[in-house]
Amino acid sequence: MTMTGIWKTVFVSGGAGYIASHCIVELLEAGYDVIAIDNFSNSVSGITGESVALQRVEKITGKSVKFYICDLTDREKLAEIFSKHKIDCVIHFAAIKAVGESMEVPLHYYRNNIIGAINLLEVMKAAKCFQLVFSSSCTIYGEPEYLPITENHPIGKITNVYGRTKYFIEEMLKDITRAEKNWNIISLRYFNPVGAHPSGLIGEDPTKPYTNLMPFIAQVALGYKPELLIFGGDYPTKDGTGIRDYIHIMDLAAGHVAALTALQKSHLRLKAYNLGTGMGVSVLELVKAFEKATDTKVPYIICGRREGDIMSMYANADLAKKELGWSAKLSLEEMCQDFWRWQTMNPKGYRTATNDNTNQELIKKSDD
Ligand code: UFG
Repeated sequence: MTMTGIWKTVFVSGGAGYIASHCIVELLEAGYDVIAIDNFSNSVSGITGESVALQRVEKITGKSVKFYICDLTDREKLAEIFSKHKIDCVIHFAAIKAVGESMEVPLHYYRNNIIGAINLLEVMKAAKCFQLVFSSSCTIYGEPEYLPITENHPIGKITNVYGRTKYFIEEMLKDITRAEKNWNIISLRYFNPVGAHPSGLIGEDPTKPYTNLMPFIAQVALGYKPELLIFGGDYPTKDGTGIRDYIHIMDLAAGHVAALTALQKSHLRLKAYNLGTGMGVSVLELVKAFEKATDTKVPYIICGRREGDIMSMYANADLAKKELGWSAKLSLEEMCQDFWRWQTMNPKGYRTATNDNTNQELIKKSDD
């Protein structure tokens, strides 16, 4: 892949996280320079404050990433970083995202996600950088009125605080692009990202407890957890379990490079795109696909529904194909195999760290 435009430097917030680290691989391989920040609220830091994930990214790509520890609520520090570099565009990943936690500490979520976004937008404006790709989520659609979901499906009927922060930021982006014509923004609405880079060197390693399905399945397959609890077996779906649109993390990463290319080609003001495969997969189908692809057993128990869960959610991803020239290419089997490679090479995530020289003692931090 080669860089098609003239932009050189991309600023990435939340750079040490799962989605951003995979995206940075794609950005570096497309020829961009990357400046990344993270506050390590849900990612692993080495003893001298480096990002272990980004060191692995450097190993994969043979290129370097400029990294700063910075919390987006620290506006001064953010402005200082912007003053040191000529930044052409921004990808804003940084956010706290645990649905359950967001219901318990809503102000923490609003402060971190909303004030963080406002600070970033203000600092960008002061630096005359108006190009942005925003990490949004299909959660903003709420319980679907129809499937597959298109971008013009109503948004805002959300059942959790985390989702509301994403929705409020999208509304804010609408307002600023309406008021100021310089802004050129793409909001990417992710469906369910899973998998890992095929090298097995980077993957999902949150410092908060796992709540998502695939990491949990892998923990059971490794024997760390006795069985998977399947939340609900009585939905009116093909096998009674919930349906989602699982998308390989490398396909999702490629979607960001496609979005940057589109922003360079045209002044869009604000456009939203779904990033999904368009395929609905049930919990049981994912369990079976995982067992087959990895030759493991995943014992499970079907229990009651999880509060606030949506029954069925999958994307219509035609718009991204038409306008960004992007579509998901990797199969469910590859999602499972690549995630399993990451998990078995790094059973304790980045804290295993047996294969690089930064691995003595890793600091686990939490933002609370
Ligand atoms: N599930 C189980 N057992 C588990 C975990 C999940 O049965 O231990 C089921 C859920 O009920 C659901 C499916 O697996 O049917 C997927 O659940 P996830 O928690 O992996 O993902 P969600 O779709 O519920 O939520 C994810 C992100 C949210 C985001 C949402 C929409 O975790 O942050 O997608 O973007 F808001």
